[in-house]
Amino acid sequence: MASVCKVIARQLSTSVGRQGPVKYLTVIGSGLMGSGIAQVAAATGHNVTLVDQSDDILNKSMGNIKKSLERVAKKKYADNPKDGEEFISGVLGRISTSTDSSSAVEKTDLVIEAIVENLGVKKQLFSALDKVAPQHTIFSSNTSSIPITDIAASTQRKDRFGGLHYFNPVPMMKLLEVVRTSETSDETFNTLVEFGKAMGKVTVNCKDTAGFIVNRLLVPYMLEAVRLVERGDASPRDIDVAMKLGAGYPMGPFELSDYVGLDTMKFILDGWHERDPNHPLFKPSPLLDKLVGEGKLGMKTGEGFYKHKK
Ligand code: NAI
Repeated sequence: MASVCKVIARQLSTSVGRQGPVKYLTVIGSGLMGSGIAQVAAATGHNVTLVDQSDDILNKSMGNIKKSLERVAKKKYADNPKDGEEFISGVLGRISTSTDSSSAVEKTDLVIEAIVENLGVKKQLFSALDKVAPQHTIFSSNTSSIPITDIAASTQRKDRFGGLHYFNPVPMMKLLEVVRTSETSDETFNTLVEFGKAMGKVTVNCKDTAGFIVNRLLVPYMLEAVRLVERGDASPRDIDVAMKLGAGYPMGPFELSDYVGLDTMKFILDGWHERDPNHPLFKPSPLLDKLVGEGKLGMKTGEGFYKHKK
């Protein structure tokens, strides 16, 4: 009788799809973030399938990953280039590519989505994946500004959905924000945290709140600096000097804004303002809007709050 019960229990637990440690990972979107996530996950022993819209994009991304690994190997294996070569081929060997997201998730434990920051496109993707991914598969998004709850609404696995918010450049930045919605199960959340640690990241836990931790503090801070300039209270140069020498920050808010991209800042702010129009910290900034309108987006266009050599 006891052994029959054990068999039934085992069958039941398989049918609802138990989650174990993540071995097979699918990263969807092979841009700046997705290729960094794939690289670090493969370097820490995970089998990764990297998905994008075309083979041309994927070839370019794999080239970028190889270049990044070469930089790592040059430092890490300075005295032994042969080991460095083995390291590079080992990591690349754990990454396969695909242009078909549905077949890429057929045997995966975890999906990390890092595609364009658009709710409709993300929902369309997850709704399709939900129909083909195994029961135990966890879905996650690397979104910076869209509520995870809104993306998860496109699936029937809201308990197996969370946020994994990485920082750019992923191979260099130690932090990973692990985000849980009100419906994320404890088992899913714990698996995501363990996966983050297995990738060598320092994880912090956060609820599904606008900007999570880092952007929620950083973006309003950068915007307050812009508002000081808008009122004519101080210049960008003086504010940057003040925050570096007075607060010990490595970059001032305007240097940081130009690095992040003024379009990205505006995009995040506009999204928050749309969802919470009465919040004073999320008010649009005329100066930011003007610069973005003029195509002055920061370092990437050669000019933002400062002029940059291209
Ligand atoms: P990116 O523009 O560099 O890469 C996006 C990639 O997704 C492109 O290669 C594109 O071809 C691909 N893609 C678009 N739709 C697709 C689809 N339906 N199926 C498969 N591939 C598709 O963008 P980036 O900067 O890597 O950002 C990706 C996500 O990560 C966004 O949600 C963004 O908010 C978030 N994020 C970005 C950070 C950053 O510093 N850039 C930091 C943290 C999060």
